[in-house]
Amino acid sequence: MHRIRPTPTRRAVMAGGGAVAALALIGCSRGANSLGAASGRLPETRIGGIPTALDAAEHNFKLGDNSGPTPAWLYGEAPFPVYRMRQGESLDVTLTNRLKEHTSVHWHGVRGPNAMDGVPYVTQLPVQPGESFTYRFTPPDAGTYFFHPHCDTAAQLGRGLAGVLIVEDEAASFDDDIVCVLKDWRVAKDGSFLPFVTTQGAGRGGTFGTLRTVNGLVAPQIAVPAGANIRLRVLNVDSTRVSDIGVQGAEVWVIAIDGNPLPPFALDTWRLGPAMRMDVVLRTPKAGGRIALTDFFAAEPIVLATLVAEGASKRDEPFAPTTPAISKRAEPDLANAERHELKLSASAAATNYDVPTSIQLADGRRIDLLDSLCSTAQTLWAIDGKTWPQMGHENLPPPLLSLARGTTARIELTNTTPHVHPMHLHGHSFKVLSANKLKRPEHWADTVLVMPEERVEIAFVADNPGNWMIHCHIVEHQDTGMMGWFRVV
Ligand code: C2O
Ligand code: CU
Repeated sequence: MHRIRPTPTRRAVMAGGGAVAALALIGCSRGANSLGAASGRLPETRIGGIPTALDAAEHNFKLGDNSGPTPAWLYGEAPFPVYRMRQGESLDVTLTNRLKEHTSVHWHGVRGPNAMDGVPYVTQLPVQPGESFTYRFTPPDAGTYFFHPHCDTAAQLGRGLAGVLIVEDEAASFDDDIVCVLKDWRVAKDGSFLPFVTTQGAGRGGTFGTLRTVNGLVAPQIAVPAGANIRLRVLNVDSTRVSDIGVQGAEVWVIAIDGNPLPPFALDTWRLGPAMRMDVVLRTPKAGGRIALTDFFAAEPIVLATLVAEGASKRDEPFAPTTPAISKRAEPDLANAERHELKLSASAAATNYDVPTSIQLADGRRIDLLDSLCSTAQTLWAIDGKTWPQMGHENLPPPLLSLARGTTARIELTNTTPHVHPMHLHGHSFKVLSANKLKRPEHWADTVLVMPEERVEIAFVADNPGNWMIHCHIVEHQDTGMMGWFRVV
């Protein structure tokens, strides 16, 4: 169900004076900093050119004011490690699987080489319990990315397997750079997990979490320098929830979407679906001033996190957002584009792929079967009338599209369902050209919301050879059939 945000906009709320402080108080009463984390910030590590160990393992950690710990699956000891590197540096990360089922790491949004894309049976073999796999490549573009597994995703991401990758551009420098990871958890009051997939949720908008967090904390307060120019990177890594993100208490400019820089525009709110990211810049207030990161999607706005300004003001010149280096992605050649339509639909029956398709991995091995962790348990959704294979029919499906390298693909995503689908393509950034429901400026992205009954047109140059996934990022939709792949040869 998709609700329209009521008319009082962020600006109107701001004009209401004490509104920010009042909303921030709501944040406090909802248990701010109940984890006692000093800063509300995530642990960060510089990894450019440095071999880095990434362990996927179960760790108990306490969420909000739950009575007991949550048996989370994490990369490292705390949720959402942040990896930072500079553009041009190489990434060298060795995943070791200490879980009881296989896994892998997909670098969401990064236009990396196909063999490093982290999709079991499509770009690599799964990393079995006790095994390791090294991801080594140089991300071509600066931006805000995240990483996560790609099979049994509802459970693995649901339990907390996600991290942040930031590729910094030298040009843009700010007094502070803050990461805010939005994720809801499906937990009972005692901290135990509730089922990640429900038939009712999977067949509709997805099964929502019971506890909303930013950086693993309920309504955290994050200290920021006063009177400073700061960059805020907001990532929605939730499996289900579409938020309508606004920032109250400062003038805020959007400078990138899904890591792709764009000419700055003033933020009112931005509809941020699962897997989508938004970078904004703002000038913080004087010491004691507060800024609220707010979700306006529901009738009652919800403060997700509060930034509290501290110390002597750093700047007094007027604030003007700096224009980031604009994208170096190849411009689509629309006049000579190959046009395709991909219909997003409901489907109760799994497509029977009787002709086996095989994929050759970079190391020469051939793959033609999936295992049950990577196929769907139940089929509810389809792309172009075809579903991802269901358990028991585990042949790899044929590609939805095969594109000659260098071709501009112009794809119309047509949503025939009453639910929103954040559609994601691997290995490429695409330009969102038009949409007939939710108004957005033309922009580059790797995940785009296709609203109920909406048609969204995207275009990209198929310049990254390999086998690439295309799927809905409402993870229960992905895990129940709304997934396929395309080939660039
Ligand atoms: Cu964020 Cu195919 O994934
Ligand atoms: Cu979907």
